[in-house]
Amino acid sequence: MSDGTRFDGVGVIRTKREGGALTPEQIRDLMRAYMSREFAEEQMSALLMAIFWRGMTSAETAEWTGAMIASGRRADLSGLGRPSVDKHSTGGVGDKLSLIIVPLVAVFGAAVPQMSGRGLGHTGGTLDKLESIPGWRPDLDPAALLRMLDKVGGVITAAGDEMAPADRRLYALRDITATVESIPLIASSIMSKKVAEGTQSLLLDIKVGSGAFMTDIEQARLLGSTMIEIGQAHGVRTAAMLTAMDTPLGRAVGNAVEVAEALDVLGGGGPDDVRDLSAAEAEAMLQLAGIDGDPGQALADGRALDKFREMIRAQGGDPDQPLPDSPLLGVVLAPRDGIVCRLDAYAVGMASWRLGAGRSRPGEAVSAAAGVICRAKPGEPVVKGQPIVELRGDDRGRVDTARAELAGAIDIGDEPPPASPLILQRIGF
Ligand code: URA
Repeated sequence: MSDGTRFDGVGVIRTKREGGALTPEQIRDLMRAYMSREFAEEQMSALLMAIFWRGMTSAETAEWTGAMIASGRRADLSGLGRPSVDKHSTGGVGDKLSLIIVPLVAVFGAAVPQMSGRGLGHTGGTLDKLESIPGWRPDLDPAALLRMLDKVGGVITAAGDEMAPADRRLYALRDITATVESIPLIASSIMSKKVAEGTQSLLLDIKVGSGAFMTDIEQARLLGSTMIEIGQAHGVRTAAMLTAMDTPLGRAVGNAVEVAEALDVLGGGGPDDVRDLSAAEAEAMLQLAGIDGDPGQALADGRALDKFREMIRAQGGDPDQPLPDSPLLGVVLAPRDGIVCRLDAYAVGMASWRLGAGRSRPGEAVSAAAGVICRAKPGEPVVKGQPIVELRGDDRGRVDTARAELAGAIDIGDEPPPASPLILQRIGF
């Protein structure tokens, strides 16, 4: 096609259908033809299904990602004079780590250009959480983003339409053709956006467990190594941590309640699991960026909280205004004395979503007040009648469906559950 001949879309679909590998030129041509609508949606649907079954080699996956990046703008952060590093989480329940880690890593002089998304389904979205802070706005134009990275260091913003636009169309198509759950398609989708944002290095937090996209550790490993290979092919130093997501991270799940918990951690307190994982991930990001620093100390001495407040102010937010109240609407009580052995992450995420913290359709409004507080977590003793989970929000009519999500989600036993690590594996360090 680069020689002026017509693009052979049917031939490309046939090659992949038969299990063959596409050449770099075929991949570049098909993405260009897709963006110009010469390669039709129904043809791309057929190709996606062929990829779903036949897979792609590492070289094809890297090329596919490159073609998606080339469909838009790749930011250039080389003029900043600071090393840049970002992290991406595949999404979990109570995963408020970005709110803590972005300012924490920026404390040490790194530029952290986090382009984040909104929640869909049972996992929350960083932008939805931050929007519970009065006045805070997610949108920044490219010039404002660069100014903020230069002055403040950390920024959390909505990904602009100019970043990997092919991914937006492909993701919508995968969603309606049952082709989302393909490792090369997931890996290229995530990495196209991360590479396009311009970061020099990247930490991937791949969540594994009932509340995660990946419930199987082998699949999570494969996703991690595929994304690392893509990062390397595009000049982004990339490493991954596989982390546990069988029970919520911390005690708060929702929007304003998660911001409040993140503020506790930024101020040197908060739940141990959130603090420890934030410090470990920040340390890994500093290592990738080639910066020395002690993130635990920056949490303890208030520097991370100061940086968070600076970030919020720079995007129109008022960190001194109280967060929206989250009235208590109901509780789930311990049915007997004992020790909590299981509090299922997926069920808690679904309960929070039912209360209004998440959306069922893109563009729907979410409730800042909605969420769940886990008063007892696995390993903690309870007595009969003690609240284990609090249901919070501003719509009493949603409580019964939220409560129903938690049926069967809590086990109380006589012995503590076996201790399980938060960090299951590190890849690519
Ligand atoms: N997140 C993405 O951005 N893309 C996927 O394919 C899956 C999760």
